[in-house]
Amino acid sequence: MTALALHHYGPDAGAGVPLVLLHGFPLDSRMWSYVITSLPLVPVVAVDAPGFGASSALPDGGLEVFADAVASGLADVGVTRAVVAGLSMGGYVALALAERHPDLLAGLALLDTKASADDEAGRAKRLGVARAARGADGAAAVAPMLATVLGETTHAQRPEVVEEVRGWLAQAPPSAISWAQESMAARPDRHHTLEDLRERGVPGLVLRGAEDAMASAADHERMARALGVDVVEVPESGHLSAVETPQPVAHALADLRHAVIG
Ligand code: MLT
Repeated sequence: MTALALHHYGPDAGAGVPLVLLHGFPLDSRMWSYVITSLPLVPVVAVDAPGFGASSALPDGGLEVFADAVASGLADVGVTRAVVAGLSMGGYVALALAERHPDLLAGLALLDTKASADDEAGRAKRLGVARAARGADGAAAVAPMLATVLGETTHAQRPEVVEEVRGWLAQAPPSAISWAQESMAARPDRHHTLEDLRERGVPGLVLRGAEDAMASAADHERMARALGVDVVEVPESGHLSAVETPQPVAHALADLRHAVIG
């Protein structure tokens, strides 16, 4: 089992119900830093996906193995219930975690993501990026994402965010890019997991940056219907809502955790 880097903030995670943050592709837990500083004092665990950030080792397996490693890393620090929030790829992992470790899920937040599997064209595109990253392109294989991963307001008005995300894309480890793309290509549809959570009364949040060009309004409406909630739409924000507009995102996550702990 891969040992993951779990970064702790605020009060002791084992003593409460932490907010567990799972980042998007091909970034690492730094992606959450602005949300973390905008949160009230709550226990937070931000996880680096395999091969990204401080989680250097790649697992022998895909997103499910990653989800199992998150559950076991949390158990190691005494966490048995958590509010799990995943953005994009992090959302796919949060769904795998909800399916495989349902008792861990005290609440689920899905941000700028989808619960459906890729179609054939989507899978082929991912495998092409995986090959390019493993070959001569390296991290340059993900550089074109800058255009679509940020919303039009950020491109026009937040140059410091554009530059920071450009830097993160350039630092993405090629082997991790390949692992993540192959793993995402293999993920199944998990709307049934959302229906299970709704039946068990687990509180949920579905949030979308209104300018997200990578996960559609229809994707979010479908997840929200399955979970029995309304979509929270954040204006002037794109696919990386947690980076582009951290304050409303932190607010929504804090509200969800509050609904969980009462
Ligand atoms: C992400 O932000 O994690 C990616 O857009 C996920 C994906 O490629 O589906």
